[in-house]
Amino acid sequence: MVEADDARRADQLTREINNHNHRYYVLDDPSISDGEYDALMQELRRLEAENPELVTPQSPTQRVGGAPAAGFTQVQHRQPMLSLANAFNVEDLEAWLRRVKNLLDGADFPLVCELKIDGLAVSLTYENGILTQVATRVDGSTGEDVTQNIRTIRSIPVALMGEPPERLEVRGEVYLPVEDFERLNEKRARQGEPLYANPRNTGAGSLRQLDPKITASRNLQIWVYSMGEIGVEIGDEASQTSRLDSHWDALEWLQTLGFRTNPHNRLCSTLDDVVAYYQSWLEQRHSLPYQVDGVVIKVSPFNYQESLGVVGREPRWAIAYKFPAEQVTTKLLDIRINVGRTGSLNPYAVLEPVVVGGATVKQASLHNEEDIHRKDIRARDWVILERAGDVIPHVVGPVASRRDGSEQVFRMPEVCPVCGTTVIKPADEAMHRCPNSSCPVQFFELLKHFVSKGAMDIDGLGEQWCRILIDQGLVTDVAGLYYLQKEQLLHLERMGDKLATKITDNIEASKARPLPRLLFALGILHVGSEIAELLSQQFPNLEALAQASEEDLTEIAGIGPKIAESVVSYFKVAANRDVIAKLAASGVDPTQEINVPETLEDLPWRGLTFVVTGTLSAFSRKEAETRIKALGGGVTSSVSAKTNYLVAGESAGSKLNAAIKLNTPVLDEAAFLALLDDPAPARDGSS
Ligand code: IVH
Repeated sequence: MVEADDARRADQLTREINNHNHRYYVLDDPSISDGEYDALMQELRRLEAENPELVTPQSPTQRVGGAPAAGFTQVQHRQPMLSLANAFNVEDLEAWLRRVKNLLDGADFPLVCELKIDGLAVSLTYENGILTQVATRVDGSTGEDVTQNIRTIRSIPVALMGEPPERLEVRGEVYLPVEDFERLNEKRARQGEPLYANPRNTGAGSLRQLDPKITASRNLQIWVYSMGEIGVEIGDEASQTSRLDSHWDALEWLQTLGFRTNPHNRLCSTLDDVVAYYQSWLEQRHSLPYQVDGVVIKVSPFNYQESLGVVGREPRWAIAYKFPAEQVTTKLLDIRINVGRTGSLNPYAVLEPVVVGGATVKQASLHNEEDIHRKDIRARDWVILERAGDVIPHVVGPVASRRDGSEQVFRMPEVCPVCGTTVIKPADEAMHRCPNSSCPVQFFELLKHFVSKGAMDIDGLGEQWCRILIDQGLVTDVAGLYYLQKEQLLHLERMGDKLATKITDNIEASKARPLPRLLFALGILHVGSEIAELLSQQFPNLEALAQASEEDLTEIAGIGPKIAESVVSYFKVAANRDVIAKLAASGVDPTQEINVPETLEDLPWRGLTFVVTGTLSAFSRKEAETRIKALGGGVTSSVSAKTNYLVAGESAGSKLNAAIKLNTPVLDEAAFLALLDDPAPARDGSS
C-alpha cells in the first residue's frame, strides 16, 4: 500500500519539476539552481522506486527512454497533416494574396508570419492535459508513433499548464539545433566516421531511433506552430478554446499551456510588412541557431481559414515563401580523389575558397565519374556552387561561357592513389573501387571488423589497439595478426604482460573459428554473415572458394550476380590472395566437414516452396529465407496453392489465415527449427 503522504508528495514533485522543466527548456528562465533541481528529481525517483505504483506517464522521471522498440506503430491522424503551397518570389506571393482576398470578397485580415523551420513535423495529442501520443507526419494521413522518443525532448510538455481542453492536438516542428549537429559531426570526424549531411535528416534520424536513449542524447527541440483540430473538441462552452478565433490567439494560448512557440512569429497587416519580414530573415537566417528554409504566411482569423478551405493537401489560407538556395560562382582548381574506408574512390573538387550559406567552402564532393561527365565539369572550370540546407555544398555545373581552353576533362585513375592496386568498377555500381582490402585507408576498418565479435572474435584487441598496431607498422594485413610476437606487443606503451598474454592467446584461439566466421571476417564486399554461411555450405575452405567462377557461384540459391562478381574480384587481387596464403601458413584452419551436395538437385528441399511470415525469435525473416534457400527451397511472398509450407512466427496475420484456408502445412518456429536440423523428411510434404 502506498502511503497517502507519499502519493501526495510524488504528485506535488511531478508538478513542481514539470514546471521547472518548462521554465528551463521552454522559457529559458530557470528559477532554481541545478543542484536544487537534482534534489527534487532524486526525491521523486526515491519515492517512485519505493512505490512503483506512483509512477505516472507524466512523471519527469519517465522522460529518458524505456526499452528499444521493435518498430514504429502506424497512427491514423484524426485531421490530416497538411503541407504548404510554395511561393518562390514576390509575384507568387502577391498572386496568392490576391486570390485569397478575392475569395473573401475583398475583406481585410491580419496575416501571421512565421519562420519555416527545416525539421520534422509532429502531431502531439493531449488528453486531459497529459501527453498521450506523438506521431510523425509520414504521408499526412498516417504517421508513425514516436511517443516514447518524443518524451525525451524536454521542451515538449508531458503535462500541460493552465486549463487544457479534454482533447488537444497540436503540431510543430522538431529540429536539431545547428550547434548540436555540428558537435555531432565533429565527433564523427574525429572517429573517422562519415559525416551527416544536414541537421534536418540527422534530427529526423535521431527521432526515429528505435532506442529512445539515442534520441535522448541528441538535444532535439520543438517549435509548436498550430493546432491539429482547429476549434478543438470543446468540452466546456466557456473554455478558453471556444473563445479562440484566430491563429494568432491560438499561438498565444498554446504558449500559456506550456508550449514553445517561436518568438519571431509576427502579426502583419500588409503585403509590405510580409515582404519586409521575409527580407530581414533572408539576410539573418544564418544567425539563427536552427535551420529555416523560408517563411510561412497564414491568414489569421479562423472563420476566414474555414471559408478558404483546403485543396488537396494544401490549405488555401497559408503559403510557404521559400528562401532561394544560395549560389555562388568560383573556380574549380583541381579534381582529386579520396579513397573511402570501403575502398570507394570519391572524386572531389578543390575550390577557390568562397563564402556560401554562411560558411567558407574550399571543397565539394563530385560523387562519381559519371556524374562529373554528365554535368561536364572540368578541372579549371568556373563552377556554380550551391548550398541548400546541406552542410556540404554541391557543384551545380560549369559556367561554360567562361572557358578559356585550359580546362581538363576528368578521367578516373586506373590505379588506387593510395596503394597502386588496379581499380575496379563493379557493373551495377556508380563508384570505382580499390579492391585491395589491405589498402592502408581501408585497413583500419577491416581490422576492426576482423577482430569483432561476430567475426574472429579476438577479445582484448579493441579499436585503439588496432590503430596502434597499424600505426606502429606491426600489422599491414589481417594475416599479420597471426605473426605477431608477444615481445612486439610488450614494447607498446601501456601494454602490460597480462594484456599481451590475453591478446596473443585470443589470437591463437581464433585460428580455429569456423569457415563462415572467417569468410565474414575478410570483409569481402556484399559478403555479410548470412552469405558467408551460405558459401561455407558449398565450399570446404577458402582455397576452394577462390577457385569458383561467377557461374559456379550464381548456381547457389541465394547468391546473385552482384555477390558472385564481388567474391571473384576479391580473389583476383594478388594482395588478397597473399592474405589467404599467409592465413593458412600461420595455422588458421577453418576447414570443415561438410557434405557438399554433388549437384543442386541433391539439396533436400529442392522443389519445395516456402512462405515465411510473422516474427521468429531465433533469426530474422531474411535469415530464415536464406536457410531455406541454402537447402534448395524456394521462398515466395504470398501463400498460394503451390506453397508447400508456411513458416509462421509470432503475430502471423493474413498469410496464416490464407494457409489455413488452403490447407497448407503450417510450421511454427519449433517445427521449422526441427526441420532445419533434419531436413530430409520434408520430401513427403505432408508431415
Ligand atoms: S504550417 C497548414 N508552419 O513545413 C499546415 N509548417 O511544407 C501546415 N513547417 O509539414 C503546416 N515550419 O513540417 C507550418 N511555421 C510553420 C512551419 C511549418 C515548418 C513545415 C511542416 C510542414 C511543412 C509544409
